[in-house]
Amino acid sequence: MNKHYDILIVGAGHAGAQAAIALRQQKFTGTIGLMGNEKYAPYERPPLSKEYLAGDKPFERIMLRPESFWGERDIELLTGHRVAKVDPMGQQVTLTSDEEVGFGKLIWATGGSPRMLDCPGNQARNIHAVRSRADVDKIMAALPTTENVIVVGGGYIGLEAAAVLTKLNKKVTIVETLDRVLSRVAGETLSRFYENEHRAQGVTIELEAMVESFETNDEGMATAAKLTDGRMLAGDMFIIGIGIIPETGPLVAAGAAGGNGVDVDQHCRTSLENVYAIGDCALHSNPFAGGALIRVESVQNAN
Ligand code: APR
Repeated sequence: MNKHYDILIVGAGHAGAQAAIALRQQKFTGTIGLMGNEKYAPYERPPLSKEYLAGDKPFERIMLRPESFWGERDIELLTGHRVAKVDPMGQQVTLTSDEEVGFGKLIWATGGSPRMLDCPGNQARNIHAVRSRADVDKIMAALPTTENVIVVGGGYIGLEAAAVLTKLNKKVTIVETLDRVLSRVAGETLSRFYENEHRAQGVTIELEAMVESFETNDEGMATAAKLTDGRMLAGDMFIIGIGIIPETGPLVAAGAAGGNGVDVDQHCRTSLENVYAIGDCALHSNPFAGGALIRVESVQNAN
């Protein structure tokens, strides 16, 4: 590849795509590379667990911009590439393919990867995440032969997947470790409202329940989730929605300050020269949270 961009954006989700768009809107005339590890042009992630999974919106309708937009704005879309190493002093990244790409400034917008359960049986082929188009395509392909779905996690992803799959006539059980759903993002009143609403639509919700392991068969498929209280929940599809892990490995390895995400100041600067971070992976002092150091996992924050 051996390319160089005045601004290299790593991560082609909402934050990365919007950064490229905003640079051109602000009349930035330098070269821009927008790199993503997925093979698709930037698309909206929230509909994946809603209209896209339901089959109500095809992929073309959840793309952030038409395919031609990026070329027209002179934004070079680099799909299917993963950064393995960042060299802030040498101002270049190394890809998993060993190719090197140089930058004037680097914007890290890699979001997070779905946290999966670390327990026996967790590698079964019918255990799914819901974060990328590929994840949801796999779920959709398996739907015709699916009747019982066990959803682990009662956050946005779990509740949305449960709602859509119930509408598609699947029998759905949600397993949530805490004593209410949506605890990360909502107060108790809202949690109870959504629990009641889901139950009224036929969803079973198991609160204060934890998966200990998955039973698997000879074909490498999980057949049941075993809970820590000994109960077995049989299913033919398992969906894990227990949050994300911020994708900051190469930056932290390069010496960027961070722990839960990468630390940024009010200008989105990391502790590394010429390196910025935005979106789900950026840990910042948030004025709406009394200055607390937090990451905000949302499209609005990314934009
Ligand atoms: N077993 C069961 N439930 C668990 C476990 C576990 N081992 N670990 C965590 N949970 C529960 C949490 O208590 C919480 O209710 O899973 C839920 C996770 O909710 P979120 O943190 O909101 O994560 P998720 O729903 O996966 O969403 C991931 O997608 O929609 C976006 O904004 C959302 O960025 C977030 C991401």
